[in-house]
Amino acid sequence: MIILGFESSCDETGVAAVCTERGLLAHSLHTQVAMHAAYGGVVPELASRDHVRRVIPLTRQVLAQAGLTLNDIGAIAYTAGPGLAGALLVGASVAQSMAWSLELPAIPIHHLEGHLLSPRLATPCPEFPFVALLVSGGHTQLMRVDDVGQYTLLGETLDDAAGEAFDKTAKLLGLGYPGGPALATLAQQGDAQRIALPRPMLHSHTLDFSFSGLKTAVLTRLRDALAQPVVAENLHADLAAATQAAIVDVLVAKSTAALEQTGLKRLVVAGGVGANQRLREKLAVTLRRLNAEAFFPPLEFCTDNGAMIAFAAAQRVSRGLADLTPSGHGFNVFPRWDLAQV
Ligand code: KG4
Ligand code: ZN
Repeated sequence: MIILGFESSCDETGVAAVCTERGLLAHSLHTQVAMHAAYGGVVPELASRDHVRRVIPLTRQVLAQAGLTLNDIGAIAYTAGPGLAGALLVGASVAQSMAWSLELPAIPIHHLEGHLLSPRLATPCPEFPFVALLVSGGHTQLMRVDDVGQYTLLGETLDDAAGEAFDKTAKLLGLGYPGGPALATLAQQGDAQRIALPRPMLHSHTLDFSFSGLKTAVLTRLRDALAQPVVAENLHADLAAATQAAIVDVLVAKSTAALEQTGLKRLVVAGGVGANQRLREKLAVTLRRLNAEAFFPPLEFCTDNGAMIAFAAAQRVSRGLADLTPSGHGFNVFPRWDLAQV
């Protein structure tokens, strides 16, 4: 079966076609980063309006790239939550009305399920069970994944998400939006050892995280350094490197602890922060020492995209976990939605 999938939960419009037998056929993405950059963050109303503009042209592109017509589609998937309500409603209403008019099933997908199954788009594909480290702008969670739809929360952030810590610190350092990639780039020119930053909850004996104190620590170090008679030339780069090192150290330590606690040997990393090169390198080295393996989605599927939504739906369909009755008139979105309820 060929599934057309839509992602519109935040500031990326993504559309993709995935076949349950042949895998990803085509995908297309429009990122709103440039539009929101002027405001230093996502403006929800602008995000919704832009999804409206992009979704149909992207759909046409995907169908053309894959050599498909609407008659080839067997089901339509969309991100039903969590995310921005208005933005979610665009993808949901397009998917649902298309499904209704074509008399096809519409499959609502949890955005984080999309992220955590996305490393299975790569070769080699991680087999179940595995531990998933979900690190995005809104979430930081460690999950035990026994199969599609079988997710157990092991630990999560008590305050800011890892991506949020990157973004907020980047803002303090005068970097643009989104902060994560900008901070990672600046960090390459810095020395992570020169400025000491805390590793929050590193020794807490739980698998929970806390990142909100990090930005305050960075702000204090920045103010102290700027008050000195001579300001170090590389101050901003050193702070960027120290911040990245602190976040990565905690993520690696907690992921390792999750593997030890569950006795599993596979770690899957998903979400935007999974694109971070230092995190990838440090996890690969640390896990090799433990005889465990780290799996990452292809870089283009780390941040939000339509492929992960169509792919999650395909895996649900293949296992008989999706309702395949044709879509009715009513639908809903879930701006707040716990993955454990899926
Ligand atoms: O998964 P995602 O695209 O959107 C959400 O669902 O939140 O994640 C976006 C987050 C942002 O906080 C962004 O700064 C961060 O991922 N990010 C990175 C990198 N690329 C994206 N953080 C650190 N290093 C990167 N290379
Ligand atoms: Zn995401």
